[in-house]
Parts: sequence; C-alpha cells; structure tokens
Amino acid sequence: MERTLMIIKPDAVGAKHIGDIVARVEKEGFNITGLRYVQLTKEQAGEFYAVHKERPFYGDLVRYMTSGPVVVGRLERDNAVNHWRTVIGATDPQKADPGTIRKLFGTNIESNAVHGSDSPENGDKETAFFFGA
Ligand code: RTP
Ligand code: MG
Repeated sequence: MERTLMIIKPDAVGAKHIGDIVARVEKEGFNITGLRYVQLTKEQAGEFYAVHKERPFYGDLVRYMTSGPVVVGRLERDNAVNHWRTVIGATDPQKADPGTIRKLFGTNIESNAVHGSDSPENGDKETAFFFGA
C-alpha cells in the first residue's frame, strides 16, 4: 500500500484543527498507521526540509515549523501521495481549490496548515524519518 507523510503544521494545531483534519483523513479512505504529537527541533526541521536549503524561505520555514507542536501521521491507501495532495490543495491557500484543507484552514503560503509528500519515494523516506521503516 502506498504511503504519504501528513504533518499538521503549527498554525493548524494552534487553531485547534487537529480533529477536523484527522476526520477528513479518515473520510478520504486513508488508514492511519502512525500518529504522533511532536515538537520538532531546529535540527529535525532543517533535515526534513533539506531539499529547500538554498531557497530564500528556508530559514523562515524552519522557524515556522519549530514555532509550536505539530502532528505527524503515516497515511496509507492506494495512490496515497496524489490523493493526499489533491485533498490538501495548492501550496498557497489563496490559490487552493474550494474544499481543500489549505483553503479551509491555511493562512498564507508559509502557514498552510498541512504537509504532504511529493512522490511515493519521498512518502516512504518521510514516513521512515518519523516512524521507522
Ligand atoms: P509541503 O512540502 O509542506 O507539503 O508543501 P508543498 O510541497 O506544497 O510546497 P514546497 O514547495 O515543498 O514548500 C515547503 C513549504 O515551505 C513553505 N513555503 N514558504 N514563503 C514562501 O514563499 C514559501 N514557499 C513555500 C510552505 O510552508 C510550504 O508548504
Ligand atoms: Mg513539498
């Protein structure tokens, strides 16, 4: 079964949307095979988003992702990666389709409520990062 990593980001945790988002995950047919409330360290967030190291927003992104607790989840179903990215919507909540999680709960292009893996390979890597192989 394909896997993707969900992160409910600090803005959405702070706004008390954990329940809404987890309910949506189940309604979308995912099996939740790992779920954890965690405060990321600067080192963990930096390593997790290492692909963006050279981007101008990297420092802000690491600061944001460590600004409060997050919820990480391992989600499984067929076509998990693409399905979850369709459910969460575009990176910028203003450009996200109606009904997507980022449209419903995101604030701006950085504080956009949730993360989703961008390929099945990264789905495996990112879920292993938090939950082991
Ligand atoms: P994610 O990896 O979190 O699921 O988001 P994504 O694929 O839609 O977007 P990506 O390009 O991978 O960017 C990762 C996260 O960095 C923050 N970001 N800030 N200030 C900016 O211009 C900017 N651009 C991206 C967002 O939190 C984004 O989700
Ligand atoms: Mg990404």
